[in-house]
Amino acid sequence: MRLTAHDVTYTYPRGDHQVLAGVDFEIPDGASAAIIGPSGSGKTTLLSLMGHLLPMQHGTIHALDSHGREHSLAATASWVLQTVSLLPDRTALDNVAVGAYSDGASRADARERSLKYLAQVGLAGREHDPARILSGGEAQRVAIARALASHRPIVLADEPTGQLDATTSSTVLDAMIGAHRERTVVIVTHDPEVAARCDLVLELRDGRIHERQSAPA
Ligand SMILES: Nc1ncnc2c1ncn2[C@@H]1O[C@H](COP(=O)(O)OP(=O)(O)OP(=O)(O)O)[C@@H](O)[C@H]1O
Ligand SMILES: [Mg+2]
Repeated sequence: MRLTAHDVTYTYPRGDHQVLAGVDFEIPDGASAAIIGPSGSGKTTLLSLMGHLLPMQHGTIHALDSHGREHSLAATASWVLQTVSLLPDRTALDNVAVGAYSDGASRADARERSLKYLAQVGLAGREHDPARILSGGEAQRVAIARALASHRPIVLADEPTGQLDATTSSTVLDAMIGAHRERTVVIVTHDPEVAARCDLVLELRDGRIHERQSAPA
């Protein structure tokens, strides 16, 4: 799924300034894009507009398939939020299965997907632990596995590696980007190493995107 944004502007109803002031970008199908920029520059706001968590005020954001047909981002994107929330008394496996069920998976398929994505984020063997005993970084990885288990063609992730060390972060990126680039991934990050792994780097500055090709780390 290709993602395009054109002239997106946004001011919070109670805000005192325009957070986004004419954002334009294009992310090709199957590509990974890092959104970087200082704290408060509007990264979460932009991701929220992309995922329909905030109403658009001006401009357009489209998800287009290979035939140029438009799809709703609300239906085609899965989320990793900046604040991870899991069902505390359910197991890691059950939490990931929620993602698969949202895609209409059967019980058996959901279990299979959950085991697969938990392993991909480095949590093999932790499937039956209740979410409440997981560390911050482990919980974050369960939330990523849950998003991947939905098999939606777009993943929007807000600081998904914020609590991870470099090695674990790299493992998680492998899982998110996918061996076959089967999904389009947008990752908000403060980590230059994560940005360097993405195909595109979109830097938010003064409410606009300044695009550059990612240089290898
Ligand atoms: N609900 C709100 N009402 C008013 N202003 C808001 C609201 N949410 C965010 N803002 C403001 O919008 C600006 C952009 O916030 P946003 O959360 O998008 O930044 P960010 O780039 O994600 O920052 P961080 O790296 O700290 O997560 C900030 O100045 C913030 O104070
Ligand atoms: Mg943010």
